[in-house]
Amino acid sequence: MSKIVIFSGAGVSAESGISTFRDSDGLWEKHNIADICTSGCLQTNREETLSFYDARRNDIEDKEPNLAHKTIVKIKEQYPDKISIITQNVDDMFEKAGCSDILHLHGFLREIRCEKCSYVEDIAYAKQNRDKICPTCNSKLRPNIVFFGEPAPKYEELYKHLEDCEVFVCIGTSGAVINVDMLSQWAEYRILNNLEPSNLINEEYFNEVYYENATTAIPKIEESLQKFLD
Ligand code: APR
Ligand code: ZN
Repeated sequence: MSKIVIFSGAGVSAESGISTFRDSDGLWEKHNIADICTSGCLQTNREETLSFYDARRNDIEDKEPNLAHKTIVKIKEQYPDKISIITQNVDDMFEKAGCSDILHLHGFLREIRCEKCSYVEDIAYAKQNRDKICPTCNSKLRPNIVFFGEPAPKYEELYKHLEDCEVFVCIGTSGAVINVDMLSQWAEYRILNNLEPSNLINEEYFNEVYYENATTAIPKIEESLQKFLD
């Protein structure tokens, strides 16, 4: 199992041109979470919910991974068994950077899934076909995204990766959904990179703190990780 966990959020993709959620001008300033991303909204507000995710899918089609995604994937290629890449992001920037071994805690935009069974389909950047039903059980299909108030089955894997984690690297998350302070406690050495301090993260838990763009922090983070990898 891996020794270094690289845990990311929307900030790692900000410089690729993908909106974060809670920064000024972020997605949750323009859209109401309760309407399009909360348990039950597929029943009460189906069309608007599906359209929101169609737009997100369309938005990432031409986006490219930045230096942070590329460097993280490069380190993973060099030390595949020592690095776990775990993200709250639903975009495919790490995949576009060349890695398919990514744990997406909150789902994956390119996929739709059955509301009832385990059927999952990659529709890339297309609109979800409203007429299509599950080929296995005839139920409705939906974006493969974890909405607020829904179970997040991948969290179990997150904790498995943390069990033998020695170094915890956190990049681009406010800590509003997942308690970053708590995750960091599993590791002996901790690195934090955000654009600015978050009142939900206690920087005193971290050995190295970089408040700057992920693309300028990543060379320094890479250098620090080297001493744990040699
Ligand atoms: N480089 C580094 N960090 C950045 C950058 C950047 N260029 N731009 C923004 N950030 C940081 C901000 O300082 C902030 O701490 O990224 C963080 C973005 O926070 P949020 O918008 O809250 O995103 P995130 O923490 O990923 O949200 C968690 O909330 O809505 C849900 O499911 C959604 O996975 C998402 C979860
Ligand atoms: Zn089904």
